[in-house]
Amino acid sequence: MIIAIDGPAGSGKSSTAKEVARRVSALYIDTGAMYRAVALSCLRHDLTPESDRLFEHLQRINIEFESSDTGLHVFLDGEDVSDAIRDSKISEWSSRFSKMPAVRERLVSIQRELAKNEVNAGGKVVMEGRDIGTVVFPHAELKVFLRADPAIRAERRVKQLQEKGTQADVQTILREIIERDTRDESREMSPLVKAADAIELDTSGLSFEEQVENIIGLIQGNG
Ligand code: DC
Repeated sequence: MIIAIDGPAGSGKSSTAKEVARRVSALYIDTGAMYRAVALSCLRHDLTPESDRLFEHLQRINIEFESSDTGLHVFLDGEDVSDAIRDSKISEWSSRFSKMPAVRERLVSIQRELAKNEVNAGGKVVMEGRDIGTVVFPHAELKVFLRADPAIRAERRVKQLQEKGTQADVQTILREIIERDTRDESREMSPLVKAADAIELDTSGLSFEEQVENIIGLIQGNG
């Protein structure tokens, strides 16, 4: 079974998807982390999204996930980049790199491969991103599209940053969220849109537990 969870930044997607995966014993795949790892690698190699060397560089990048007591870790060419990819500069560049067809093709192929291996081994997969229900797995057994008011998403982000010891201005974060949404929704290839058969869940007024339970209920309804 493949469960696709899509939605914009700050909709509660990552934390919800991770907890849902834990409760239903599914493999959790955070595809945003993969776009972030690509952006980090490209910036380290002085590549821009328009660079001639982008395609060739993408063939050499190795991205792996490892789950541990401290959460999901992302490895780029063997290096743990879980913290480095959360930098706000990387948030912005990952959105820019994610517009490029070469980047999307490469990552979609890795995502399908990761899920295929898990499903073939009898497991379930919760995959989270922007285009999982529309492009990566258009035939997923369950598709959920999360939404939330931009102002609420900005407040959540500021709280998350504060918990990590970083102070942030809510207005700046709100502006960045709106800019990123616009870029993600208006790109030509695989824009952020709800799949026609996805179930929409507005998380603006929901607690974390309510979000998780809603999705678990949908999974049980499907099974
Ligand atoms: O979910 P996130 O904020 O970590 O994602 C980082 C960027 O990657 C985001 O701006 C959009 C892009 N992305 C994408 O284009 N497709 C996905 N499936 C996941 C993320």
